[in-house]
Amino acid sequence: MLADTVQSIIWRGDHVAILDQRLLPTREVYLECRTCEEVATAIRTLAVRGAPAIGIAAAMGLALAGCTSDVDTPDELIRRVHAAAEQLLHTRPTAVNLQWALTRMLRHCHTTPDATVASMRQMLIDEALRIQHEDIENNRMLGRTGAHLISDGATVMTICNTGSLATGGFGTALGVIRAAAAEGKRVTVVACETRPLLQGSRLTAWELRCNRIPYLLITDSMAAWYMRTHRVDLVIAGADRIAANGDVANKIGTYGLAVLAAAHQVPFVIAAPCATFDLTIESADGIPLEERSADEVRTMAGISIAPSDAPVWNPAFDIVPHSYIHAIITERGIIHPPFQVAIQNLCS
Ligand code: MRU
Repeated sequence: MLADTVQSIIWRGDHVAILDQRLLPTREVYLECRTCEEVATAIRTLAVRGAPAIGIAAAMGLALAGCTSDVDTPDELIRRVHAAAEQLLHTRPTAVNLQWALTRMLRHCHTTPDATVASMRQMLIDEALRIQHEDIENNRMLGRTGAHLISDGATVMTICNTGSLATGGFGTALGVIRAAAAEGKRVTVVACETRPLLQGSRLTAWELRCNRIPYLLITDSMAAWYMRTHRVDLVIAGADRIAANGDVANKIGTYGLAVLAAAHQVPFVIAAPCATFDLTIESADGIPLEERSADEVRTMAGISIAPSDAPVWNPAFDIVPHSYIHAIITERGIIHPPFQVAIQNLCS
């Protein structure tokens, strides 16, 4: 079904269609969200997930809030849109792209002497579409830039899903792989399944298969032994938030891969758009890490795989300290340690 990208979030004029990622890879069903609340639920329940995609969905949710609010004046509209932004902001705490997209939307939602309710609604829609469009363009740029780090014949290990599904389109870490493959390089991807919700096996394997990029699926617990017994040229992951010192929050299991990569002298790199940097946070200590329901670990596809009252710890993300990271690939170029200054220059 893919050319080189799939659109998982589509603005349809009066509602937002969201490809329900919980049903992949077996069913391709779009949720037709007609209210901001429905978009918030789609984000919270992971029907749409991945840091940039969450930001885009939230922006479209806010546009929907603007369009569906029964108001007479621009001031009333602004109040409704701010309330909706507050609701969306709390759906998932770790991906800074959510906050980034909402802040950007709210900046466009202000009165001017000639503003009308209709013109403000249109402004919100236009801005949400711009955020989506820019994300795709940024990913393509990031992909082309990062492809230099992948040589012909390379084996690249990755975790979670950082492809078209997780973004406006094309992807970040998976976009780099996709760009290298498009250049004619032979790349094999080792995809970690990504317990507990299996974004690696359900989503990344699906995207790679659609793109005809050779891959091998492994369980997360096989990564260490794979690195010990096979050649891995690069480990590449996405990011949900990058602190000013280069510490990275990403899907649980990413820290483990970074430590393994260091132990096996494999370069570990991150691919993320500049919207993922949070310069208000100095180091990982300030990054809120989401903890999710115990049942995500106790069950799989609705089947009980542990005692129903098993005590569970289920952090959705972990932190990779900047000292483990060889490079961060962005749409504005690749940065290397020391990250503090490089990030400041990149984002200024
Ligand atoms: O819980 P998820 O599936 O939203 O987690 C997604 C990740 O951790 C991704 O690696 C990250 O958001 C980058 S997506 C381009």
